[in-house]
Amino acid sequence: MESGQLSTRHLLGIQDLTVSDIQLIFRTADGFKDVLNRPIKKVPSLRDVTIANLFFENSTRTKLSFELAEKRLSADVINFSAGSSSVAKGETLLDTVNNVLSMKVDMIVLRHPIQGAAIYLSRKINANVINAGDGTHEHPTQALLDAYSIREKYGDVKGKKIVIVGDVKHSRVALSNIICLKKLGAQVKVCGPPTLIQKHIQTLGVKVEYNLDKALEWCDIANVLRIQLERQDIKYIPSLREYAIYYGINKQRLARLDHEITIMHPGPINRGVELNSDVADSEHSIILNQVENGVAIRMAVLYLLAGTK
Ligand code: CP
Repeated sequence: MESGQLSTRHLLGIQDLTVSDIQLIFRTADGFKDVLNRPIKKVPSLRDVTIANLFFENSTRTKLSFELAEKRLSADVINFSAGSSSVAKGETLLDTVNNVLSMKVDMIVLRHPIQGAAIYLSRKINANVINAGDGTHEHPTQALLDAYSIREKYGDVKGKKIVIVGDVKHSRVALSNIICLKKLGAQVKVCGPPTLIQKHIQTLGVKVEYNLDKALEWCDIANVLRIQLERQDIKYIPSLREYAIYYGINKQRLARLDHEITIMHPGPINRGVELNSDVADSEHSIILNQVENGVAIRMAVLYLLAGTK
């Protein structure tokens, strides 16, 4: 397995990682991807490590992917979902985590609806903290697996033209992707209705294109985001039907382009809104490769952070 150390003992956001950190995670994930393709998909690397997956918000991919990554590394794993816990009786995040830690837990994987929850926790406890998505802030392992999937398909992320399409304003995936892709030397644009793109997004070094057809003509890769209706306190778009007409990606739209592009999506997909099935399930899509790579990337992150003080 790759040797080397990350410059941080927590993974709170891509913002905190150096380019060397990201490259180390990728090289470590390469090794674990080989492991995952063997008949016996397990290594003893984290045999003495106990990890708690604390999910205060719904998840399918991230939760299962972390749990599988931990089990493939032979860690002991406990899982927590807020809905079936004493959080419903009023227990605080910190009280909950301190109770979990008193059971001799070494690492915390946290998904939480509040921005900064993982940062807050990392300042209060001794265990390693991994942010599995905090509100509209960051989702670092998603950005790492997305960039890793681009590297796998194209050999390198540097110089690639990537457009992030859709509800950029409410998306932690968008922010983490922008930071990660820019660090790795990609060209990044965002595209969506003006109401769903932050006014000052250019300060992150990205360009804005409101016309989807122009954005798709420019790019090599489109990373398509879900409309996050659960985070919209007011109405940002007239209707989902109108959104699909102007910003939905379908086969006809791709057929008009003068080159082929790759389609990505972090999931879950609103089929027929941001992405039609004739694209999501087509040879242009690497959506399931992203999910597959998520396990190797999370194994790499857990392995590199375990035991760091
Ligand atoms: N991509 C992602 O975070 O999906 P889940 O919400 O299902 O974990």
